[in-house]
Amino acid sequence: MKEKILITRKVFPSIVGRLQEHFDVESNDADYIYAPDELRTRLQGKVGALVSATEIINAPLVQACPSLRAVANIAVGYNNLDLAALSAAGVVATNTPDVLTETTADFGWALLMATARRTGEAERWLRLGLWDKWALDMFLGVDIHGASLGILGMGRIGRAVAQRAHGFGMTVRYHDRAPVALADEKGAQFCSKEALLSLSDHLVITMPYDPASHHTIGRRELALMKQTATLINISRGGLVDEDALADALADNRLAGAGLDVFEREPFVCPRLLANARVVATPHIASASLKTRLAMADLAADNLIAALGYGACAGQPPSPLNPAVLRT
Ligand code: DGY
Repeated sequence: MKEKILITRKVFPSIVGRLQEHFDVESNDADYIYAPDELRTRLQGKVGALVSATEIINAPLVQACPSLRAVANIAVGYNNLDLAALSAAGVVATNTPDVLTETTADFGWALLMATARRTGEAERWLRLGLWDKWALDMFLGVDIHGASLGILGMGRIGRAVAQRAHGFGMTVRYHDRAPVALADEKGAQFCSKEALLSLSDHLVITMPYDPASHHTIGRRELALMKQTATLINISRGGLVDEDALADALADNRLAGAGLDVFEREPFVCPRLLANARVVATPHIASASLKTRLAMADLAADNLIAALGYGACAGQPPSPLNPAVLRT
């Protein structure tokens, strides 16, 4: 008899098929988000779970599911997983790095350009039939070429965002816990968070989120930014204090914000939604078909291997708590 696994959200049929070769699969074709009680009930008797960022795998849940041996996240960010609890219970946790880096960086630029040049706002206005004549001062934005790009979090995605800046002749600065060894991001300069905030014309947030990085951008940080700057977040909503951001935008202390992620998704702070200078998208930075397929494939590879099946049995490609594999 095959061991049982749970797929918590709708995934591509090819992924379900791959997992069915090894496991008795329960999937969620209706694609609703399980309430915590339902998730706990459905995980009973399951040895593995393919989850996404919408599922919170916390200590009480892990303790209530003693059959669980592996959790594969279809995301590079893993703030939804309590790694300490999973490790303590001997459950392998995995994520999907690398495969989404370039697609996510592309989208960071899409948001940056839309925010700086006000494309969403201008298009909405045009579609309303309000365009009756060209005018010299219509939808004046801020320039991207020759501007100063700031990157908060110089990991894989931050570096890919930086590489793309060269075509625009930008000065690139970044902040991270420490300077990082850079290969292709010619000339990206490390600086303090405060310097990054005050010198950047466009600030892109690409750092990971955890309790320690909650509201990394709050009132104090926003006050340090240029009034003409844009703020772009393609990481996790909790990194930015949305109330403080809404205030800064309402007071014209910032030129605009491009947000793909929000503090309480899918809820979006109404004051941000109401502000024309906000470009808001529903957490789609990695959403090209090719990349979402690659993410789901990698998560399936991880789950199969972590549970001891397939050609890489026992060696999932991207474990988050590799020590568990050695015990
Ligand atoms: C990720 O991979 O972390 C994306 O944000 C999707 O959740």
